[in-house]
Amino acid sequence: MDAALTDLKALRHDVERGWGLPVTSYSDQDWLCRERAAIFDKSWYYIGMSQTIPAPGDVMLGHAGRIPVIVSRDQSGTLHAMANVCRHRGHPVCLKPGQHRVLSCPYHGWTYGLDGRLRGAPGSEDEADFDKAEFGLRKLSIDTWGPMIFVSADPDARPLIEHYPAFPDVAAQRDFNLDPDAYTYHRRYQATAKANWKIWYDNSLECFHCPHVHGSSFNDAYAVDAADYECLIEDRVVSYHFPPKPQRNANQLQVTWNKHLHLFPGFFVTQQDDIMLVHQMRVIDADTTHVYWDILAEKGADPARVKAWCKIWEDTLVEDKLAVEAVHANVNAQTFTANRYMNSREPVPQNINRWVLDALGAQTS
Ligand code: FES
Ligand SMILES: [Fe+2]
Repeated sequence: MDAALTDLKALRHDVERGWGLPVTSYSDQDWLCRERAAIFDKSWYYIGMSQTIPAPGDVMLGHAGRIPVIVSRDQSGTLHAMANVCRHRGHPVCLKPGQHRVLSCPYHGWTYGLDGRLRGAPGSEDEADFDKAEFGLRKLSIDTWGPMIFVSADPDARPLIEHYPAFPDVAAQRDFNLDPDAYTYHRRYQATAKANWKIWYDNSLECFHCPHVHGSSFNDAYAVDAADYECLIEDRVVSYHFPPKPQRNANQLQVTWNKHLHLFPGFFVTQQDDIMLVHQMRVIDADTTHVYWDILAEKGADPARVKAWCKIWEDTLVEDKLAVEAVHANVNAQTFTANRYMNSREPVPQNINRWVLDALGAQTS
């Protein structure tokens, strides 16, 4: 048997006993290379909401993992996703979201249609055997879930709901409101954490830390004891349902309903009173993780409450960032070999480790 696979099986056994992955996996470049090949280069990434590009000629920018992305709406209303990488010498073709008649590279003026086809290349008329049809922008896979737009750098990516077989059932159980007219786009938050993605991701998928880290933010609005909330875990899909907090809190912003749906490795959506959040994580390197989340306000929501919710979520993000950066720095000191998770409180991080190992094992078999 392949030595690497033998090691992965041993690690899988350790995970079943509550142990984490080796702490070296939080900094090692070889681990990250394997994770990228097995997980991230094939993932679907949330890029933005369809209501931010409603008209023909509208363009949004983002990333699908390492690949810079253009999402455009052509004159017929069809959405396209393509790499924001000029086929001449690689400059970004589009630097600004918004309205574009064509996509014109600012470096030497190659011009592409909103479907990515090369329209014009200055000097090409003097080149022998230059066929514009060969130099369109690289096509990427695009899919939607309600108003949310996803892109995968894998041109052969299976549709989102096939990529996650458990997704339709879990989503149906939670009954998300996917009507694009139900919410108004409010704003985007972004942060770059000096932490390995697995440290960020563990933190974003457990609430064991919430009473300690989010005392006056998330913890003030939600009932976060393990006995209070419901968690579904099915094949790379996780969903939480938080009930109202039983007693009144300091900020008077109790929820009456709150539901989350996470897709491994890094997307989640939350709907609750007043707002909807759509969140995406992206690996920059072994030590750096970027996250962004869009906030949408329910139509008719009180602007003061929306503003207060934004403050709670922004505070939560800052608190999480400080915590995971502190963990990352310490874990990299390697004074122990692996985390010891609490089975009763941290089932999802243990599943994250299982899913990582499964993906790496599948790649090496
Ligand atoms: S790199 Fe785009 S035109 Fe030269
Ligand atoms: Fe947190």
